[in-house]
Amino acid sequence: MTDTPEPAKRLLVRTWGCQMNVYDSARMADVLAPLGYGSTGELEGADMVVLNTCHIREKASEKVFSELGRLRLMKQARAAEGRRMIIAVAGCVAQAEGAAILERAPFVDIVLGPQATHRLPALVRRAEAGERALLDTEFPPEDKFDELPEATIPQGLTAFLTVQEGCDKFCSFCVVPYTRGAEYSRPAASVLAEARRLVAQGAREITLLGQNVNAYHGEGPDGSTWRLSRLIRALADIDGLARIRYTTSHPRDFMDEHGGDVELIAAHRAVPQLMPFLHLPVQSGSDAMLRAMNRRHTADDFLRIVDALREAQPDLALSSDFIVGHPGETEADFAATMALVRRVGFASAFSFKFSARPGTPAAELEMRVPEATKDARLLELQALLRDQQAAFNASLLGRVIPVLILEPGRHKGQMAGRSPWLQPVHAMLPPTLAGEIVPLRITAAHPNSLAAEATSATPLDAPAPAMPERAMPLLQAASA
Ligand code: SAH
Ligand code: SF4
Ligand code: F3S
Repeated sequence: MTDTPEPAKRLLVRTWGCQMNVYDSARMADVLAPLGYGSTGELEGADMVVLNTCHIREKASEKVFSELGRLRLMKQARAAEGRRMIIAVAGCVAQAEGAAILERAPFVDIVLGPQATHRLPALVRRAEAGERALLDTEFPPEDKFDELPEATIPQGLTAFLTVQEGCDKFCSFCVVPYTRGAEYSRPAASVLAEARRLVAQGAREITLLGQNVNAYHGEGPDGSTWRLSRLIRALADIDGLARIRYTTSHPRDFMDEHGGDVELIAAHRAVPQLMPFLHLPVQSGSDAMLRAMNRRHTADDFLRIVDALREAQPDLALSSDFIVGHPGETEADFAATMALVRRVGFASAFSFKFSARPGTPAAELEMRVPEATKDARLLELQALLRDQQAAFNASLLGRVIPVLILEPGRHKGQMAGRSPWLQPVHAMLPPTLAGEIVPLRITAAHPNSLAAEATSATPLDAPAPAMPERAMPLLQAASA
């Protein structure tokens, strides 16, 4: 007699928005695994589809409804075959729009806010039992991180780890304080335990996540408050964890006079595992705009932080976010942004046209910038940022740099990896090197990636001797 196991159900999670959503999507897959759901990349045949959404700009949140239109047809087709398809909308659009989603798309089964991930299994059980229109957008009193299971589906060689969530900054334009709620830091012990699990599952690089990750002030194991710098130093003691990153930082939380974590700047000098790349959004180079945006730092504050970071770690490269066309932005304000970009020199950056978001103060402001002006400014800014990115990539030509080898590349015999500055790197290497950090010489610089080759110092025999990155200089000259 054979026991027929319950057929595995297929789960498709589609993710938009920031890395916090990527992390949450992985947690949703974790909590649904015990209910028999296994992940699929295909919509075809999916028993459950989760749209993990982003509300940050109008375009991002509108995408959800066009996607739902497609899902409605799939759901109908499956129903005609007598099969169920559960549709859930999660993430920041779910939080912001709540019941309005169920009105606009009544075929949606579950609407789930970002703070309710741990309650998804209960909702899915109810949906499987035939209940409809289930809504959970409460900010629950319990801590979702305490409620999430320890057992996780391995993330691989590079992993995300959320250490902080929410935001109390209330920038004029931004929905995050409303969709993610107040700033909250996880206790250090629970972060460290999760990091150790990730490393035991194979992670070589961990990126610590938070909407304002350098505002972290978690409870330390000794009862004192730990800042991010303290947490990073403790993470650096984990054997096997070769690389640490953190994102997204806020300039204000680097500033001593505002109780920021200045030690974090020193950590870039002292902790070899901390990668020399920092995403530090500035939004604008004009103090008038920064005031209107309620950023609570000046352009000069930003430049002073950048200088201090570069003094601590001369190989540090920077990335940032910019908004053009915030209400009231003049030509002079925009020129100040261009000047700041020229002064800093960014290795990469994201830039956006201001998008008026319902419920935010900036949506109510007069002095809107005409769409055509926004377009022109964005083009000009992006051209400069693109040149800077190309120049940064080109500056590595001929250099030997440590590359974390990740997976087979698109071409036969090729492996893809990651530079200390987050650039994708391709090289002809044996697949057995996956997970190793090896020195490679950069042979070509493309707009968004690098090509590289092995040098006489590259260990090609598997398994490669585990080379501690700290023993490897970041940049070796062409003659190396
Ligand atoms: N917590 C981070 C980033 C949050 S959102 C920070 O404080 O910087 C990511 C980026 O989206 C922002 O840095 C900003 O550049 C952009 N953004 C946010 N709201 C926007 C809006 N209403 N219109 C255009 N861009 C926006
Ligand atoms: Fe949004 Fe500002 Fe908070 Fe960043 S700091 S999440 S831009 S409100
Ligand atoms: Fe988007 Fe929410 Fe992240 S609005 S950027 S998914 S915090």
